[in-house]
Amino acid sequence: MPENTTSVITLARFLLGEERRHSHATGAFTNILHDIALAAKMISREVNMAGLVDILGQAGSHNVHGELVQKLDVFANDVLYRALDHTGHIAVLASEESEDPIPIPDKFPVGDYVVLYDPLDGSSNIDVNVSIGTIFSIHRKITHGERGTLEDCLQPGSRQLAAGYVLYGSSTMLVYTTGTGVHGFTLDPSIGEFLLSHPHMTIPDPPTKVYSINEAYYNRWSPAQQRLVQYLKGEGGFGSRYIGSLVADIHRTLLRGGLFMYPGDRLNPLGKLRLLYEGAPMAMIVEQAGGKASDGVRPLLEVQPTSLHQRIPMFLGSAPFVELAERFLAES
Ligand code: AHG
Ligand code: MN
Ligand code: MN
Repeated sequence: MPENTTSVITLARFLLGEERRHSHATGAFTNILHDIALAAKMISREVNMAGLVDILGQAGSHNVHGELVQKLDVFANDVLYRALDHTGHIAVLASEESEDPIPIPDKFPVGDYVVLYDPLDGSSNIDVNVSIGTIFSIHRKITHGERGTLEDCLQPGSRQLAAGYVLYGSSTMLVYTTGTGVHGFTLDPSIGEFLLSHPHMTIPDPPTKVYSINEAYYNRWSPAQQRLVQYLKGEGGFGSRYIGSLVADIHRTLLRGGLFMYPGDRLNPLGKLRLLYEGAPMAMIVEQAGGKASDGVRPLLEVQPTSLHQRIPMFLGSAPFVELAERFLAES
């Protein structure tokens, strides 16, 4: 074997290996991740062509959060739905772009799994060619009817079977966990395969002292949040990085360590990010990589959802930094 060659392991090969290693794993699970990876390749192609095919610009419609929907959002949402709706593994779907849970059409078989997703994360960055992403969260159905319901979607993050994201950046990466570590795959577009590039991703220790937050909202924050950021940038000696795409900011935090924050404030007490398809999946990934995820008071994975699009303050990253944030926020 020539020096410093690494084995070429495709996502498919890796998933099969994982399935064999975990007796509880069923082929259904492997197939769902396959289907999401297929959608990711199709979205990656469109993202990389976006500037050329006039796919940019506002689609004109507004989503449930009152935000202008960009055409790529619509495309990504459609692709994910069409990759999952007919497979027979899904009981119900939920998307950031749909107000209610998305039922599986009667003409298709249903299964035991629930997939919640943010089809295009960081949409404000689409037309300035900054990294964007897709986020997904997988649960098992808990109701007893044949088809899934809203109740199957409203499960705490601690019950996720899997979580992952796709980062459409300088390269396209798929990062996921099924609860036994975090693994990263990089798309080789010349062969259309996700290849294992970051096995067993763990947040670095000692962590890099970087905090990540949108400081434009400083004046809306609580005094405790203001004191925390003043400390970080003062005697704490932290640097600052903020991309404005959750997937990109979390990916950097995973690789370098640091503290990502999207706090609540005077105008939005629960912040902007949604629990079910942004907070919970990212929390599972960060904790599986050895980090910590909090809503500022308690573990983010323990939050019991009460509505599909509910928001949640997020403090994710290196455990010592998340604990530091919680200590500051505990002081009124
Ligand atoms: P989405 O495009 O799915 O609505 O997500 C955008 C989110 C998230 O990607 C990012 O962390 C956050 O918006 C940035 O918000 P601000 O522009 O308020 O900083
Ligand atoms: Mn998002
Ligand atoms: Mn989105």
